Amino acid sequence: MQKTVFRILALVLSLFPGHDLVRAADSTRIHLIPQPVSVTEKTGSFLLEPGVTIVAGKNIPVPTVNWFITRMASETGITLQGGGGGKRRISLQILASGDQDLGKEGYTVSVKPSEIRISATNAAGIFYGMQTVLELLPAGAGTMVQKAKIAVPCAEIKDYPRFGWRGLMLDVSRHFFTKAEVEKYIDEMARYKYNTLHLHLSDDQGWRLEIKSLPELTSVGAWRVARTGRWAEFMPALANEPATDGGFYTQDDMREIIRYAQDRYITILPEIDVPAHSLALIASYRGLSCTQLPYSVNAGYRNPTRDDNVLCIGNDSVYMMLDKIFTEMAALFPCEYIHIGGDEAYKGFWTTCPKCQRRMTEEHLTNVDELQSYFVKRMEKMLKTKGKKLIGWDEILEGGLAPEATVMSWRGMKGGVTAARAGHEVVMSPWDFCYLDLYQGEPSAEPPTYGMCRLKDSYTYDPVPDSVDEKYILGGQGNLWTERVPNYRHAEYMTWPRGLALAEVYWSPKSARNWDDFIYRMEKEFVRMDKDDIKYSRSAYNAILIPKREADRNFSVVLSTEVKGLDIYYTFDNTNPDAFYPKYTGQPLKFPVGATDLTVITYRDGHPVGQIVTAKKEDLARRVNEGHHVY
Ligand code: ACM
Ligand code: ZN
Repeated sequence: MQKTVFRILALVLSLFPGHDLVRAADSTRIHLIPQPVSVTEKTGSFLLEPGVTIVAGKNIPVPTVNWFITRMASETGITLQGGGGGKRRISLQILASGDQDLGKEGYTVSVKPSEIRISATNAAGIFYGMQTVLELLPAGAGTMVQKAKIAVPCAEIKDYPRFGWRGLMLDVSRHFFTKAEVEKYIDEMARYKYNTLHLHLSDDQGWRLEIKSLPELTSVGAWRVARTGRWAEFMPALANEPATDGGFYTQDDMREIIRYAQDRYITILPEIDVPAHSLALIASYRGLSCTQLPYSVNAGYRNPTRDDNVLCIGNDSVYMMLDKIFTEMAALFPCEYIHIGGDEAYKGFWTTCPKCQRRMTEEHLTNVDELQSYFVKRMEKMLKTKGKKLIGWDEILEGGLAPEATVMSWRGMKGGVTAARAGHEVVMSPWDFCYLDLYQGEPSAEPPTYGMCRLKDSYTYDPVPDSVDEKYILGGQGNLWTERVPNYRHAEYMTWPRGLALAEVYWSPKSARNWDDFIYRMEKEFVRMDKDDIKYSRSAYNAILIPKREADRNFSVVLSTEVKGLDIYYTFDNTNPDAFYPKYTGQPLKFPVGATDLTVITYRDGHPVGQIVTAKKEDLARRVNEGHHVY
């Protein structure tokens, strides 16, 4: 409690100059995510006030400087003046012969009472330095101290990323997100120094990119019948029901997104998922699956039989279509890679399809894994003729990896390890640490989804397994699949704060990782996110309920929290507990006779911090039987 008072006092005092008490009370005025390589806090502050100037070296891109002026104005209400006169200035400088450590994306920020100086060897580093300066501003600067001077703490910061690939994936197929929403996502990623946005542009539920030579991909493939409610339990399309739900990006839209991302030093990695997850393609152009049956785009229903969403890879028309698609994509996207998906292909249709069987005979392929590998190798050659490199999910290892392919490891890290050992480059995104569509807290308190990936799972994972040479690990991603993400606010809720944790995993030195300190900084960040209307989840403050089997075939429940220092209060009497209810002491709880629900809440320093969470006895019993990761 006392600590909280000091922190509030420190925050208020930090808005005014010359109070050394500020440092005494809160020795860290600086709370950055991701944690930089080195931060040395100094006494004193740079006072931001009207009249502060900005001086940019000639080789710093104008959009970068303008972006910073706009962001500073929106955060503080102060518009930086050009010209360099005045008492105080912010200067930006690209170093001719830089500090070798800084690399392509590193920077230094020096805050002195008279000057904030951002230096880097490249414009990307200047941009990341700007993001750091924005995060040095007192949280809520523009709203709390209208017209007052804003104090930026004096400091020397040196920073550069651990990995060159720091990505998030957004699935825009299962639910379509507008251009404006994608751009907002890009802005949010850029705050935390992500540099890659992987767009999952096609799947069974929608095709999202205009391909001019194949207009039906978007006139048919981008649309499905509208359903709202619980994903996978929807009713299939009725006869003659209009397909009104969906959308797509025209190539002009996508060029604007690419440019928007480039201005924030983010590369757009496009994915077209083949040979499976291809129902939108199959629905648009008849005859591309082995069965050649007609389909409409899936509206979020579970197929009672096997999904017929796999391309016939014995069919030459499929390769002609893909050539057209990848030709237009290669011209549109500057990214050096195109992602071809490659995941979860059911290979059963290929075993009985005459075209696939003929292909296997002609190509001397002995099994369907080799047929899949033939397809991926052919995709690699096709992309290469268009100047692009192939990246795919780790299933592309099956039957033999294409010679120069990069592997995105999702079924754990195993695929990534195998690929790296064979000398291939790898992007890590193991589901149990990086899948942002999974539950992030007690499932009874969350919108329905599956699996479990807690904030601490994301924070404590390391993308370089022992025994693997780090040079093959390009970096990693968090992946937001959107089957159960029907709107943008929920996309934010699922992304943050796990996306903060992963930003630190991919940017900061491994040695800088510190869970308690991260939580402290995350809470500071939440204040900024509130101000900027970014939704995030507070699920890490909810109690964790783990049912444990007892010898008498019954079960007990162990309670814990991810964030340390919380108190948990509970009841079995179907009322809402508060701090006057029984406090959990560490002793596993048993349901009293007749009780049907366990209800819990967490407190910190006498105040509720988590939600009231009610778990049903039958759900907890099911979890005992199904194990930790299945819900
Ligand atoms: C995946 O999650 N199917 C890549
Ligand atoms: Zn076939």
